[in-house]
Amino acid sequence: MERPNYSATAPVPAGPKRNSLGLRIWHWASGSLVIFQLITILFISIIVKAKTLAPEFSKVLAEKGVTMAPDQVRGLSRIVAHRIWDWHIWAGLALSALLAYRVLMSFRHRGSQRTSAKIAHLQAQAAQGNAAARRGIWIRYAYRVFYVVLAVLVVTGLILVFEDYFRSIEHTAKEIHEISMYLVLAFSVAHIVGVFRAEVTDAPGLVSGMINGGESVEQA
Ligand code: HEM
Ligand code: HEM
Repeated sequence: MERPNYSATAPVPAGPKRNSLGLRIWHWASGSLVIFQLITILFISIIVKAKTLAPEFSKVLAEKGVTMAPDQVRGLSRIVAHRIWDWHIWAGLALSALLAYRVLMSFRHRGSQRTSAKIAHLQAQAAQGNAAARRGIWIRYAYRVFYVVLAVLVVTGLILVFEDYFRSIEHTAKEIHEISMYLVLAFSVAHIVGVFRAEVTDAPGLVSGMINGGESVEQA
């Protein structure tokens, strides 16, 4: 029986793809963890912020006839914050392992799976006056910058996890870790807006290519 065609593009080819299975697994696992990390910070710095939560808790307790000063209640909201930090640390360790996996994977990539081949392909198209390809080159370099920022977050994050051994640089690591968060936040927003825009303009099938792998790999 003939299967209905729900897709506007060609069927998925068999064999190795331009976006390797490893890259796709890395992308969706790391992408979700990065969003998760940003959400933990949103919760800690806004939603369960001890400073604003403690007076609210103490008001509700007073209505129930329990007198507890905001200072005493603060300890309770800190318990919640500690639990969120524990999640941040476990997700951070998983992100660190995934980054190591991404580095190892780059040695296994062949032909058009390699980032350098993807850039060379775009450069060839840009040389023929293709403006979208010229933009694509910048986007590829932005990915490289993102990997560096992610590595900085992982290194400084690990210093904070093992702070007992790094007392002298702990404060600096915390500041660098925090600044990197803003860069990752900016990248994530620009990237998600960018891929949605590309999908509906000059690159339909871009997002499904990060799910099904896209075109067959061309050996260089
Ligand atoms: C997208 C990734 C990440 C973001 C956006 C992020 C963001 C942050 C921010 C904003 C802070 C607060 C820093 C401060 O107090 O000034 C923090 C703390 C921390 N982060 Fe991350 N982080 C990420 C990844 C990681 C990774 C990969 C690790 C470790 C493996 C990690 C471990 C920690 C630790 C241990 C703390 C200190 C927690 C505490 O004060 O108890 N983070 N992170
Ligand atoms: C709804 C969310 C997301 C969608 C739909 C999406 C989609 C895509 C697509 C289609 C590509 C391939 C683009 C190309 O070949 O030029 C890509 C690449 C990439 N994405 Fe995402 N993405 C999402 C979230 C994220 C997040 C949160 C991160 C942050 C970790 C991220 C990091 C990356 C990186 C680093 C690449 C380049 C991979 C490489 O070739 O080395 N993505 N994404």
